[in-house]
Amino acid sequence: MSEELKLDLLKRLDACGAVEDAAAAYPGVAVEAILGALKSLESQEKVAYETLATEVWSVEAEGEDQLAHGSYEAQIFAAVPPGDEGISIDELKARFGAAKASLGQGRGFKNKWIKKTGANVVRLVDAIVDETRADLETIKATGTHPAKDVLKALKGRGLIKAAKVLSYAVRKGPRFSTELKKQATDLTAAMLHSGAWKTAEFKKFNFDALGISPAGGHLHPLMKVREEFRQVFFEVGFVEMPTNSFVESAFWNFDALFVPQKHPSRKLQDTFYVRDPPAATSLPAFWQDVKRVHESGGYGSIGHRCEWDVDEAQCLVLRTHTTPVSARMLYQLAQGPYRPAKYFSIDRVYRNEAVDNTHLAEFHQVEGAIADKNMSLGSLIDFLGVFFEKMGITNLRFKPTFNPYTEPSMEIFSWHEESGKWLEIGNSGMFRPEMLRPMGLPEDVKVAGFGLSLERPTMIKYGIDNIRKLFGHSVAVSMIEASPACRLDKKMGQEVFQAAD
Ligand code: PHE
Repeated sequence: MSEELKLDLLKRLDACGAVEDAAAAYPGVAVEAILGALKSLESQEKVAYETLATEVWSVEAEGEDQLAHGSYEAQIFAAVPPGDEGISIDELKARFGAAKASLGQGRGFKNKWIKKTGANVVRLVDAIVDETRADLETIKATGTHPAKDVLKALKGRGLIKAAKVLSYAVRKGPRFSTELKKQATDLTAAMLHSGAWKTAEFKKFNFDALGISPAGGHLHPLMKVREEFRQVFFEVGFVEMPTNSFVESAFWNFDALFVPQKHPSRKLQDTFYVRDPPAATSLPAFWQDVKRVHESGGYGSIGHRCEWDVDEAQCLVLRTHTTPVSARMLYQLAQGPYRPAKYFSIDRVYRNEAVDNTHLAEFHQVEGAIADKNMSLGSLIDFLGVFFEKMGITNLRFKPTFNPYTEPSMEIFSWHEESGKWLEIGNSGMFRPEMLRPMGLPEDVKVAGFGLSLERPTMIKYGIDNIRKLFGHSVAVSMIEASPACRLDKKMGQEVFQAAD
């Protein structure tokens, strides 16, 4: 069929030069079939075509009724006898039904054909012209009406409806011929051998065809946001820290950070302890300096002034934050000659938390540390401004807070336009000498640190309201497949995020 149609179209074009209305030329043929034939011929440049869309109006059931018996207003007019008496409204209702009587009277009043006197309706004119019916006749006969406002009004009254009818105006294409050659889809070895390639017609590639989306290889939204953050860190000269020690000794997770052994965050209800193996087999050489600074201070500090137990430090925990990652790196830095350093990491941490819509026992932290002789709280504030600006977050505020390992410490807030609130987006501070000096860092080397969660910005970015839909066993694979690429843009500035914790 479609081959026949194509050949016939070409013949008609050959004879007449153009087919102005292809749908009219092939009355029994579906427009889809005509379009299919045209597309195929167009791809061979045999024809060129233009789509013609016309509005065709048809009369609805209520319109048909008025076409047959006169418009409701004309019917009502006919029912009103001439003279001053007229007819009672109740009578009209009884004769035509309430709806029809009221519609017909309404239009009759409007046309000034009839008027109401008391409970009756009387004529105002002797004769009328039923324009509604005449218009409906025109539309039924021609599919349209010369006056646009008539079409609009009758459509508004529910008497007619429009449908789009497509057709095509077809002309000869640059490679017009009446012959249909089978087009080759590939250049084959046989064609090269036989020389058939010289005369063969090749099917054009359709570069607009949508590809099949691959079934695998989708990055989780958290990983997409992580990648954007990583790029921001790299842009400002940071080095990525190794984060593969998910199990840490309490020493690195807490003690090296000057977290007192009696600190509440070390309790079972906040930290996951590892039972097997029971303890870390070795501690770094400076553990005795850590013990000393905890027990009796040093470097201008009086310490925690309570006994420090090495067994406690050797307990194994699932790291509760990524600051031990920074601590290990700073310790390593202290072992070599002085050089400034900028470190970051983004990886998983664990807390023994009750899981709810915004908290998981397992989440990701973004961590940064800057070691420099000139580092100060002022330069940290300055740096954070630059860092967050790269993510489109410009409006920052800082609030003093307490961390065992930083002094001073600042919570980072950002203005959240949508909620009209200052949102906490991170935590930061200057690492204490009680942490840095036992590692062997010189007195004049200052280290600033900061941390935030990865989940918060990801949820905001991807419009996910429940963290369990983002991470864990309730995650829908389709969500991961469907999540678009992450770009941190200016809009992100309005969508600020909350810190870890
Ligand atoms: N470790 C802190 C937290 O878990 C974040 C932080 C990192 C604060 C570095 C100060 C310095 O929230």
